[in-house]
Amino acid sequence: MSKRTQVVIIGSGPSGLLLGQLLHKAGIDTIILEQKSKDYVLGRIRAGVLEQGAVALIEEAGAGERMRREGLPHDGTEICFGGVRHRIDFKGLTGKTVMVYGQTEVTHDLMDVREACGAPTVYEAEDVAIHDIATDNPRVTWTKDGRREEIACDFVAGCDGFHGVSRRTMPADILRTFERVYPFGWLGVLVDKPPVSEELIYVSHERGFALCSMRSHTRSRYYVQCNLDEKVEEWSDDRFWDELKSRLDTRAAAELQTGASIEKSIAPLRSFVAEPMRHGRLFLAGDAAHIVPPTGAKGLNLAASDVAYLSQALIEHYRNRSDAGLDAYSQRALARIWKAERFSWWMTQLLHNFPDSSGFDRKIQTAELEYLFSSKAAQTALAENYVGLPY
Ligand code: APR
Ligand code: PHB
Repeated sequence: MSKRTQVVIIGSGPSGLLLGQLLHKAGIDTIILEQKSKDYVLGRIRAGVLEQGAVALIEEAGAGERMRREGLPHDGTEICFGGVRHRIDFKGLTGKTVMVYGQTEVTHDLMDVREACGAPTVYEAEDVAIHDIATDNPRVTWTKDGRREEIACDFVAGCDGFHGVSRRTMPADILRTFERVYPFGWLGVLVDKPPVSEELIYVSHERGFALCSMRSHTRSRYYVQCNLDEKVEEWSDDRFWDELKSRLDTRAAAELQTGASIEKSIAPLRSFVAEPMRHGRLFLAGDAAHIVPPTGAKGLNLAASDVAYLSQALIEHYRNRSDAGLDAYSQRALARIWKAERFSWWMTQLLHNFPDSSGFDRKIQTAELEYLFSSKAAQTALAENYVGLPY
């Protein structure tokens, strides 16, 4: 028997899950096809700062209950340079705050509400392939437990991340890509100790960038800039804590609570955008279409704004028989994406040590930081981007 649904969603990361719930609320049927197991998806550790727009969407999706209880609203952040911390007052400068709540938790909560409403997800779906996207009758095939499966649909949402199959299904001659790979990585450590400070601390230091972040009042996330050829095994916990302390201001270094790491990994930094984000009946959302370096914590937030535009457009299609939103999707999403790409690139540029930078480059970087600390206009520009530009 041949199966049919309205929207096939590929990928059960935050993009796919959020889209699935927003469509479910509007009475639109979906199936999610995910290549990995549920535990694998929930084992990935990623950033944890949500813009108000993302918070509102998660609530709209019916998955906001635990986030409201356990999430930590932050009114500002600190930037440490020359051993001195400077505060950027998001609330005072923009009237807005951000919510610190881990992406793993967001994924968990979205999976729970999806399971509760009975919408189908196929985990460990192998060899997912998208067919006939330039026609009105696309199909998706996959293999599960050795059996070939197929489903017909109206639309395919490619929410399968940077390495997924969706972007690769777009014809090469219509797709343009833009990319910058940075010459360093972030070595991250997760630890069950209270965070060193109430707010995040972004550190610019001559030994390299560092970041003090958190997941809760008892769990912290720390990063140090490292070389791309370094291996996690070369970083004992003691070496990591010594390196982090050497980059912090005296007070933070003294107050830092260290302990055994519960996760340690190295992530490369990349800026990437694929255009357009639609071909026929295939729509890309989230990391499938774009990557930002983590410095402004924009990855999940951009996935959320894509999903806001795409869910509205699909709902308009089914409710009002209008394709205006679908036709505008790529352009609308990309306009916001490029602004977040610019911001993440700028924050990365501002705070890291570039191995090939000249004396001139370093002087400009210092001047830019000093300007930031002395100018309310510059702080407002940082704050309004960090809390999130309007959808
Ligand atoms: N078939 C099915 N599923 C796939 C395939 C495939 N061929 N390829 C990848 N996937 C799945 C991955 O296993 C993953 O669970 O798609 C999912 C994509 O999820 P994410 O990578 O989390 O991407 P997205 O949902 O767009 O979330 C964006 O995640 O990477 C962070 O910084 C990023 O915070 C941002 C957020
Ligand atoms: C994190 O908590 O992992 C985190 C926070 C802010 C960033 C990047 C990562 O900019």
